[in-house]
Amino acid sequence: MRHLLSIEDLGAAGINEILDLSDTFVEVSGRSIPKVPALRGKTVAWLFYEDSTRTRLSFETAAKRLSADTMNFGVSSSSVNKGEGLRDTVETITAMGVDAIVVRHASPGVPWQITRWTDACVINAGDGWHQHPTQALLDCYTLRQHFDSLEGRHIAIVGDIKHSRVARSDLLAFTMLGAEVTLVAPQTLLPPSLEGWPAKTSHDIDAVLPSADVVYLLRMQRERMHEALLPSLREYRAGYGLTLDRCALLADHALVMHPGPMNRGVEIDPEVADLDRSVVVEQVANGVAVRMAVLYLLLGSGVELTGGAR
Ligand code: NCD
Repeated sequence: MRHLLSIEDLGAAGINEILDLSDTFVEVSGRSIPKVPALRGKTVAWLFYEDSTRTRLSFETAAKRLSADTMNFGVSSSSVNKGEGLRDTVETITAMGVDAIVVRHASPGVPWQITRWTDACVINAGDGWHQHPTQALLDCYTLRQHFDSLEGRHIAIVGDIKHSRVARSDLLAFTMLGAEVTLVAPQTLLPPSLEGWPAKTSHDIDAVLPSADVVYLLRMQRERMHEALLPSLREYRAGYGLTLDRCALLADHALVMHPGPMNRGVEIDPEVADLDRSVVVEQVANGVAVRMAVLYLLLGSGVELTGGAR
């Protein structure tokens, strides 16, 4: 693997390889000194043109636990955009000697474009509505901790599917691992065409919840909405929000997931986010280990992992 751009490129075998390796990094993360020298001498640069809390801190923690050096680049989305600006930036960072570039950008396809301007490994940390492969990996890893296999499991992805790169990457990953997915949203929050999407759709969350093993909730991505797609957030909550009452429709073993940031009181009620069946915090913790596995596979394969301080 040279870059990580899309979950599609990995296939089920590639996903499973990363999940298996993530077990090692969960173990490393649990040590009193959670650090191994695997990527000593390597440099990872962040190029985040869109806001991020979890993904960026998670990649940064992952790189540090692998002893990589990190290069931070403060991008203001208002002053830097596509085209020459981006190309110059990438070429400048590359000239300084960087082994991997982790990029998040509002325009779909930017990570692919960047691979043409650098010899560093490129990792897609989210490109517009398109892909977010490491989110899908950490979600699959979290599910694997709860269910032996995703084969035959039913996952409902609920919310603003239309604008969600998480939905696109997760749908592909979940179905590659054998799960069945139902997309649940009002018509205005579904993509105009779902041709080729390996999923059923529904506008009736109450009908879907009883058979779901997992409910995966998405935020309203209003920064990507250029028109009014909803009467109001209150009405969205009434029709599709995961309230405590709706949780009663779920099977006992069913899990609630969310990629964050959560808008409590809209897609998820505050009390639901704190239920035992909600694994949102596990998703965040697993994100570090999974990103360690990705960085290690791209940059450090063959380097001894067990030599770190215990
Ligand atoms: C998501 C993203 O940025 O795509 N968040 C994340 O990476 N954890 C989802 C979102 O912004 O709603």
